[in-house]
Amino acid sequence: MAPTASVAVQAQAPWPGSDFHRPTLELLPLATQSQLHDIRRQTNEEGLVSQIAAGLRSEEKELPSLLLWNGHGLQLFDAILDSGKYYPAVREPELLSTCMPKIAHSISSGERVIELGAGNMRKTALLLRTLEMQHKHVDYFALDVSRSSLRSSIRELVGLFPWNPKTKIHGLLGTYEDCISWLHSQNDQKSPVTLLWLGNSIANFTPSEASNLIERFFRAGQASTVPVQMIAGIDGCQRQDEIVESYENEKSRNFILNGLDFANNLLGTKTFLTQDWDFCGQWNVKEWMHESFYVARRDLCLNIEEEQFRIRSGERVRAIRSGKWPLFKVADICAAANTSIADTWSNQEGSYGVYLMKSSLH
Ligand SMILES: C[S@@+](CC[C@H](N)C(=O)[O-])C[C@H]1O[C@@H](n2cnc3c(N)ncnc32)[C@H](O)[C@@H]1O
Repeated sequence: MAPTASVAVQAQAPWPGSDFHRPTLELLPLATQSQLHDIRRQTNEEGLVSQIAAGLRSEEKELPSLLLWNGHGLQLFDAILDSGKYYPAVREPELLSTCMPKIAHSISSGERVIELGAGNMRKTALLLRTLEMQHKHVDYFALDVSRSSLRSSIRELVGLFPWNPKTKIHGLLGTYEDCISWLHSQNDQKSPVTLLWLGNSIANFTPSEASNLIERFFRAGQASTVPVQMIAGIDGCQRQDEIVESYENEKSRNFILNGLDFANNLLGTKTFLTQDWDFCGQWNVKEWMHESFYVARRDLCLNIEEEQFRIRSGERVRAIRSGKWPLFKVADICAAANTSIADTWSNQEGSYGVYLMKSSLH
């Protein structure tokens, strides 16, 4: 059993004088070596409501994909992962199980490992175990936007490493953007950073957005004179049948439509009525991505923050994209981020890759 204890965990203010919102003190049944740092610069409500309106104002309507990742959304996503029908949930762990010793060799003892969008952290345990076998100790930070999921995943992870005082496990509550700001603030910490970005989450962005984010992560390290590298798991599948089977089913539908419930919660009104919306998906071969949409079942007029949005019957509003990027596409994205691929591990058919990226910034 893990030596867990109910300890008061202070959500620590990340940097002095920041616009960090009200720090919270909460009781978390975590192991004593774990802390949850709230690094958000603003609350979900503050950030997302204006993004909802901006997305509906744009020519190609979309809602922020962050709407999908509340506590319930993560449970619905776990149901997709466990369904056996979602090929990335099989392919990435299979690849990691063969290449993890080599991946772990690229991480030195004493580093900070920050997992971006850590989710259920099932793959994390394999990395931490492999590092332990290589006699390395790291400070592990799990970044995610859902407090409830962070707490439960960290609790499970800590339970797997009960007697290892060398592997420290922390939670960072916030977005990728918050994490970039937090890294900038860490200029008193000089240990190198490995950013771990698994589950093809990087491809929820367009290629140019992904390049921009990668570059800003590396620049944050550069500003604090901390060496940074990134390890990203990226899906390169191009088989339409597999993609459609994985992304267009009842479980995907539940996961996507939950985004509208979360939007209602944030808005404090029933703006998006369940009966008014359907779900559809589309493999967009030209853009190397699968897209999931909310579809209006009838003509709608939505009132959000004193603005009216008209949506025609059958009109689609993008919920999330999932890029499918083969090696050459990843290389383009890295080049645009002033980053190079230092190593690659891929499965036999080349349909899934894990990439080690290093900065080419001077
Ligand atoms: C596709 S899941 C991947 C989860 C996990 N890394 C895995 O491989 O199974 C994406 C994860 O990223 C988190 N996430 C999504 N957008 C985020 C953002 N902007 N900032 C921080 N985390 C985010 C979600 O809450 C979710 O846990």
